[in-house]
Amino acid sequence: MRVAMIGTGYVGLVSGACFADFGHVVTCVDKDEGKIERLRQNVIPIFEPGLDDLVASNVRDGRLKFAVDGAEAIRQADAVFIAVGTPSRRGDGHADLSYVYAAAEEIAGLIEGFTVIVTKSTVPVGTGDEIERIIKARRPDADFAVVSNPEFLREGAAIDDFKRPDRVVVGTDSERARLVMAELYRPLNLNDTPILFTGRRTSELIKYAANAFLAMKITFINEMADLCETLGADVQQVARGIGLDNRIGPKFLHAGPGYGGSCFPKDTLALVRTATDAGSPVRLIETTVQVNDARKRAMASRVADALGGNVAGKTIGVLGLTFKPNTDDMRDAPSLDIVPELQKAGAIVKAFDPEGMDEAAKLLPDIQYCSGPYEAITGADVVLILTEWNQFRALDLDRVKLLMSQPIMVDLRNVYSAPELKVRGFAYHSIGRPTQD
Ligand code: UGA
Repeated sequence: MRVAMIGTGYVGLVSGACFADFGHVVTCVDKDEGKIERLRQNVIPIFEPGLDDLVASNVRDGRLKFAVDGAEAIRQADAVFIAVGTPSRRGDGHADLSYVYAAAEEIAGLIEGFTVIVTKSTVPVGTGDEIERIIKARRPDADFAVVSNPEFLREGAAIDDFKRPDRVVVGTDSERARLVMAELYRPLNLNDTPILFTGRRTSELIKYAANAFLAMKITFINEMADLCETLGADVQQVARGIGLDNRIGPKFLHAGPGYGGSCFPKDTLALVRTATDAGSPVRLIETTVQVNDARKRAMASRVADALGGNVAGKTIGVLGLTFKPNTDDMRDAPSLDIVPELQKAGAIVKAFDPEGMDEAAKLLPDIQYCSGPYEAITGADVVLILTEWNQFRALDLDRVKLLMSQPIMVDLRNVYSAPELKVRGFAYHSIGRPTQD
């Protein structure tokens, strides 16, 4: 099948490369000329494990192309995917749909023959209806169907998530569109991936409901962690104890500094706005948003507590800045709340992140950026683990202790355990587990 993918952000680029790898002929389109030129030279704008090889091999085999002008690709396409950004609109938290509607206008002027227009961007319920209206108004003669096909991939595991998803959701009432979508995802039949066909509005809501539920699950375990600290219980054991119940499940029960990233904060807020406007408020999600925001802001005080109440003049060695490992994405990362809070209180911050430092430097300019974890720790009064990158999981703790001014660790990702740190003479503070001084 011939696919045009409008937008080469995370979702567009990964989906485009994966569809090409399935054997389809894909053109990824983006208005950003520099980005397209770099992609043609296999310079990938994001850090995503395996993506450079996937793009290179599919370009080499002639199934994947990049273009600034999408006219030809859209005319020839069986399916045109809209995978442009839907950032939070400034001020009100609603998803900004201007890029989506601009893409719909452009597509309307170009399609030839029956074409399926698919929204992969995360869009509020009813957006498919509006896209249909825009295209009909501009091209009353056009033969098309608008389909919702939300994406559930995670950054850092995006290719695997796309190729081995738990499910694919397709929202359409059109039988012809259904056949096109089934053909596009046919390679997934090999591993028996469920393909769930629903109405379009239902499919749009499934995406928001999934992200909101996961954000709520994380927020739940974070609150349990706080309770564990007060009651002298261990949140990891609580998570295991409840997660072994199949109805709850073990995933997304890692307590931490609060969720971040390009999706959960934006999508929970958008769902709250949609629901409020519809007169059917989602109070659990409203609370989730508030609790998570407050949590990120409160994390700095844990460092102060570990230092006896005051960070002024103290050096903090921060390990990890991105919102999670295996990405260079800094969007809504907890570090963006925690580091400025520490600096405001007079701390000196040194930091290392394996992939995120270029992005971080734009947002957190007053950090001393280091070339490795040990440099970030040198002379520090406390080491603060903010992101659980693999390379922070097996630090040489004796070396860490020697390099630090005093051996104190604040581990907001529960990478280490209290007994192993205590044996080496560290004061160790983690999330939701008994503290060890
Ligand atoms: C999330 C969803 O997991 C994807 O299914 C979805 O497709 C994507 O949003 C999207 O809408 O595009 P992502 O933002 O890449 O994916 O990252 P996650 O792995 O979900 O992590 C989000 C945040 O939650 C991170 O800050 C992470 O540290 C935090 N988290 C996650 C926890 O604190 N505890 C957990 O147990 C899991």
